[in-house]
Amino acid sequence: MSEDKVMEKLVSLCKRRGFIFRSSDIYGGLESTYDYGPLGVELKNNVKQLWWRDVVTSRSDVVGMDASILMNPKVWEASGHLSEFHDPMVDCKNCKARFRADHIDLDKNCPTCGVQDWTEARQFNLMLKTHYGPSEDSSSVIYLRPETAQGIFVNFANAQSTARMKLPFGVAQIGKAFRNEITTGNFLFRSREFEQMEMEFFVHPDETGNWLEYWSDSRLAWYKNLGIREDRLKLRPHGDDELAHYAAACFDVEYEFPFGWSELEGIAERGTFDLDQHAKHSGKKLTWFDSKNNEHITPAVVEASAGVDRTVLTILVDAYHEEEVKGENRVVLRLSPKVAPTTVAVFPLVNRDSMPEIAEKIVESLRGDFAAFFDAGGSIGRRYRRQDEAGTPYGVTVDSDTLEDQTVTVRERDTMAQERVAMDQLPAYFRDKIR
Ligand code: GAP
Repeated sequence: MSEDKVMEKLVSLCKRRGFIFRSSDIYGGLESTYDYGPLGVELKNNVKQLWWRDVVTSRSDVVGMDASILMNPKVWEASGHLSEFHDPMVDCKNCKARFRADHIDLDKNCPTCGVQDWTEARQFNLMLKTHYGPSEDSSSVIYLRPETAQGIFVNFANAQSTARMKLPFGVAQIGKAFRNEITTGNFLFRSREFEQMEMEFFVHPDETGNWLEYWSDSRLAWYKNLGIREDRLKLRPHGDDELAHYAAACFDVEYEFPFGWSELEGIAERGTFDLDQHAKHSGKKLTWFDSKNNEHITPAVVEASAGVDRTVLTILVDAYHEEEVKGENRVVLRLSPKVAPTTVAVFPLVNRDSMPEIAEKIVESLRGDFAAFFDAGGSIGRRYRRQDEAGTPYGVTVDSDTLEDQTVTVRERDTMAQERVAMDQLPAYFRDKIR
């Protein structure tokens, strides 16, 4: 299967199986905006939970928080987003199509109409604006946050003092961010509304290099641990010309998508830029008292900034497989049990002889520990195929032998190997497999 077909097929599978739909689909959608369906929201929640566990709850040096999307507009003045957060934009004078000037070759013809007649490149600010309160004048303009990070910086003193954190320590949050991207595309990869998982790690300014290396390695390892193929993941250092306005050094975690190697996450050394700026603009002290050396210091920041939707896309792209089985095409999502929306699907072979009741009892016995699902609709082959496309790692079938010996067939999604397992051993069996 050609690589460029993968995205097309994935989009179609996501809709067919209830992972991801176009937003406002019944009205023709809204360009590059997506809704997560019943399976998609489980996958996405699993990603967020695994991140939170890895970055926050499994550690003693990181705490979490959840800031508002809407913030005082002075935040964006201080952070530099009002003056610096823009991309260069050009228009085709002939067909009026609009592009990011750094994403296309201006010596070539317009990819939409084939004519070469460009406007001058000009800077376009990416923040989405709205009005706060009932009056729509310049005094009520506010912005939807373009990154969650600033919610952490402005709460630095609140989080540090209430959680009594000592350097080095981190503050993490997951939440929506919005950018009025000039061009969007590649499904979930670049949209105007997305979710970020960000962690700001506050360190002594002399120690940023070590922590940048530590968090870069740790974050790359997290993606590998999700079951994403290792040869498609890498860390790439930024060149000086690519660094954001606040960053002194940066590594990107990249994945080899069908459309090329692209960024999943940035791990950046932000220095004292953000705390200095907010201290200056707010007039508040944003320092930490180093009791060992008896001095107040402004901590430097190492940031790990990941995209929830890009991670979901990566997991889906990486898991998508097609193969021929007995002359038929089998589509299978090889999702790791850690992220799969359903872990075990349970089927009665036929809808009689108390098989459905036994299958439902099995679902109930598994539900406490696993995402278990009952399906009695259609032929067993069809039900297997549906679960293969949903990425469900295990299928359990109750058949006539079950009535005799209380065993069931367990089918493994990727190998399609089947074995008999005693019904009462199923929770231990899956615990052992999924450990
Ligand atoms: N606080 C730093 C920051 O926001 P960024 O590299 O601009 O850095 C971090 O964004 C991550 O957020 C990206 O690596 C990506 O995963 C995600 N992201 C950024 N823009 C996005 C967009 N338009 N659509 C989807 N995800 C996006």
